[in-house]
Amino acid sequence: MIKIVKYLQIKVAAMLYSPENMPRVAREDMNHTHEEEVALVNRIADAIEALELGDSRGDLVPLLDEWLAHTRAHFDSEHAIMEACGFPAYAVHRGEHERVFEILTQVIERYRKEGELAPLKQFVMETWPNWFDNHVNTMDFATAHFANMAEQQGKPF
Ligand SMILES: [Fe+2]
Ligand SMILES: [Fe+2]
Repeated sequence: MIKIVKYLQIKVAAMLYSPENMPRVAREDMNHTHEEEVALVNRIADAIEALELGDSRGDLVPLLDEWLAHTRAHFDSEHAIMEACGFPAYAVHRGEHERVFEILTQVIERYRKEGELAPLKQFVMETWPNWFDNHVNTMDFATAHFANMAEQQGKPF
């Protein structure tokens, strides 16, 4: 929990990531993908705040679609890394991705149908940052470390 507090910032009502302080792993390709995702989630948080201040709903839905597509590509890129290096906990890591992707899909679909901001806001500001922090510091951290070791040992990559 201490780590979460270090890289989450309170900005007015929204809890936003500071990209410099987000959790990092031992592979820059994975860090780059995570940076992109954090930037996108920050834009979504800004769009939610704008809506709360009375702006139109126009910008948010395309951003949510972009988030879903980015998350799919993010997860699939880690699956490719794990397959290539023979990561022993591949099934567990992949299973967690699929679980979270399903939740993200449902949250976005619910907002698209009902237009209710509160559940989406809670997911974007609290649920997802907590999940991301924990996931990067555990499963992604272990995956990056194992993949780098496999690479150093000359395994095909
Ligand atoms: Fe990741
Ligand atoms: Fe992951």
